[in-house]
Amino acid sequence: MTDSTKATFLSKLSKISDTILANEINFADLSTSLTEMKSLFMKASEIDVESPEYIEDIHLTTGKAIGPHWAGLCVDDLLRTKRFSKGAFQAIEEMRKRKEGKPVTLLYVGPGPFATLVLPLLTKFKPEELQLVLVEVNPVTVAALKNTIRNFGVEDYIKEIIMGDASQLQLENASEIDILLLECLQFALVKEQQVAITYNLVPQLRKDAILVPEEIKLSIGVIDSVKKMAYMTHPDDSVEADFYKDINTVFVLSKEAIWNHVSNSKTLDFPEIETTILEEDKNNFTSVVISTDICVHSNQKLLKDECSLTMSFKLIDTNKLGELTTVKSKYEVNEKPGLKIEWT
Ligand SMILES: C[S@@+](CC[C@H](N)C(=O)[O-])C[C@H]1O[C@@H](n2cnc3c(N)ncnc32)[C@H](O)[C@@H]1O
Repeated sequence: MTDSTKATFLSKLSKISDTILANEINFADLSTSLTEMKSLFMKASEIDVESPEYIEDIHLTTGKAIGPHWAGLCVDDLLRTKRFSKGAFQAIEEMRKRKEGKPVTLLYVGPGPFATLVLPLLTKFKPEELQLVLVEVNPVTVAALKNTIRNFGVEDYIKEIIMGDASQLQLENASEIDILLLECLQFALVKEQQVAITYNLVPQLRKDAILVPEEIKLSIGVIDSVKKMAYMTHPDDSVEADFYKDINTVFVLSKEAIWNHVSNSKTLDFPEIETTILEEDKNNFTSVVISTDICVHSNQKLLKDECSLTMSFKLIDTNKLGELTTVKSKYEVNEKPGLKIEWT
């Protein structure tokens, strides 16, 4: 690409970044901006959409790493992209204040082919203010990522690109990292490696490093899907948004939870938690679900059902529970991570 095309790409990205960072959400504007961003990314990454590797996932012992096509699709999850990117921006600003002008180093794990969550933010900082370390396991994705970086002309922001598995990686300069950003997750923390990667990396970092997302919380609860449907179709009517009831928090992924866990245990063995479903909840709600709440950073939150990552995961219809009252759940890290569930 010529220098003038690169400059045009970057100036378009700067305007898109303004929409991502705006306090108010105008979904029409956000959709238009992110569609334009995706189109710039596709051109800049020079990714071969015909190659078989484009849609191939990589399967690791702690979960799967989605292929470049699927990683690119994440852009389209509007609120996810906005909240994660704005949360990362706020974390950078917070760290810049703390470091009083010294450069901030952000470790971005699983940037995918476009470094989606951070690339637009580069238009708001100078390379002497923000440096990136990128870790990506998929070689096809890394090749596309390198093209993206070159074609947006943002090489000066890149400290290092590491091709490797972040769930096993031992960082050489861990104390230099100020912020860890990763979104390798699905709702209910199933299938992907957010837990294994965060548990591997956080204990290597300084205790004051910022983790983005700050907290992911899984709860077992009940939902009235009829009331939910009524609320979704007529949100302005007088239907109350009380169709969810969280009963018990069953797993939390946060810096605090990790530091507590690693001070007592060297393995990724998590406790089994029991949750009781009351008779009145069986009668008043239609299903038992796992719900996911994400605090990306500070006020940037993704609440239940706000995006694909916080969709509820149905365990069972309450009318099928019969005599069953207790659900035992235990988060397991293996080739297919997630909550292992047992009813009694
Ligand atoms: C869900 S995509 C996210 C893409 C982009 N960060 C975004 O939010 O739009 C996850 C990315 O993480 C990468 N990934 C998954 N597991 C990984 C691991 N263990 N080490 C390094 N990268 C990994 C995948 O290859 C994929 O590109």
